[in-house]
Amino acid sequence: MIRSAVTGVGGYLPENIVSNADLARIVDTSDEWIIERTGIRQRHQAAKDQATSDLAVEACRRALEAAGRTAADVDLIVVATTTPDMTFPATAAILQRKLGVPTCPAFDVQAVCSGFVYALSVADGFVARGHARCALVVGAEEMTRLLDYSDRGTCVLFGDGAGAFVVEPVEGQGTTDDQGLLGFALRCDGTKTDLLYVDGGPSTTGTVGHLRMLGNQVFKNAVVNIAEAVEAAAEAAGVAVSSVDWFIPHQANQRILVGVANRLGISEDKVISTVAQHANTSAASIPLALWVGIQDGRIRKGDLLLLEAMGGGLTWGACTLRL
Ligand code: ACO
Repeated sequence: MIRSAVTGVGGYLPENIVSNADLARIVDTSDEWIIERTGIRQRHQAAKDQATSDLAVEACRRALEAAGRTAADVDLIVVATTTPDMTFPATAAILQRKLGVPTCPAFDVQAVCSGFVYALSVADGFVARGHARCALVVGAEEMTRLLDYSDRGTCVLFGDGAGAFVVEPVEGQGTTDDQGLLGFALRCDGTKTDLLYVDGGPSTTGTVGHLRMLGNQVFKNAVVNIAEAVEAAAEAAGVAVSSVDWFIPHQANQRILVGVANRLGISEDKVISTVAQHANTSAASIPLALWVGIQDGRIRKGDLLLLEAMGGGLTWGACTLRL
């Protein structure tokens, strides 16, 4: 059977770093509070002239290089973003032009922080059915553009960045030893839109708007929802959660990462955490965390991975894959 395999991973973080102390100069907060409640120490912030697609370009170049491919090989682009360059066209179309990718399907997926897991499952549909041979799946965000810097409950939590996977078909035996995407669980509960949203949009206010969140309610939903999806994605793949080599969560809050791991019986040394350095980069956080884990030598080819995320919608989901 044909499996969709992740053959290259890349990431990019803008140069400018904003520390907790920097934020404490503009809003009533402190380094101690932010670290204790979230684990975040710093976040990267895009330059004024850097659009989301610019971050995506750098991440894609690194992913293509890791896969031994070039832009000319790409025949599908799926970008997960909640901070597109423009209302339209899709950031994927702009990215295609900037990378020099030939004519191919290119579109965005909007599922906020869960966007990367959703985008990966969409790409799996193309690749495993033989409709694409070299897909770029990208999470790229400039969350700092959506922040209200008078709201200390949200403005300390987010950062900018991009991560990308190259996904290609490989021959598998249909077993859990196969390389590739092995199982997904995707969820949305639209009755909870008011817990986490942006208060603007083209068809309502005509403005971009600012991020609004009932943080403690999102927190309460997160651990239970994510754990259920992780178990479902492991079951869909036919593996036990305990057999997973690395757990790569969406990087929202260290307390959520640890809470989910504890609930699932995953030891904390199997959890890749970048929340201290990157903060919450929404759809970019999973590919960025995987990129970091590969770069520092912890994650290797053949490892069994579990990715999970939860975000506005509320959406959430998980994916089991063998690298
Ligand atoms: N600095 C100092 N004090 C603060 C700050 C801050 N940055 N933010 C809030 N406080 C204060 C509040 O005003 C409140 O003070 P009060 O008791 O005098 O009223 C106190 O801290 C406690 O506030 P809570 O909101 O109850 O604090 P909590 O422990 O819940 O932590 C946090 C807040 C960090 C936001 C937490 O709820 C959280 O991480 N929630 C989940 C967020 C998340 O994961 N989002 C993911 C999805 S993001 C996406 O999809 C785009």
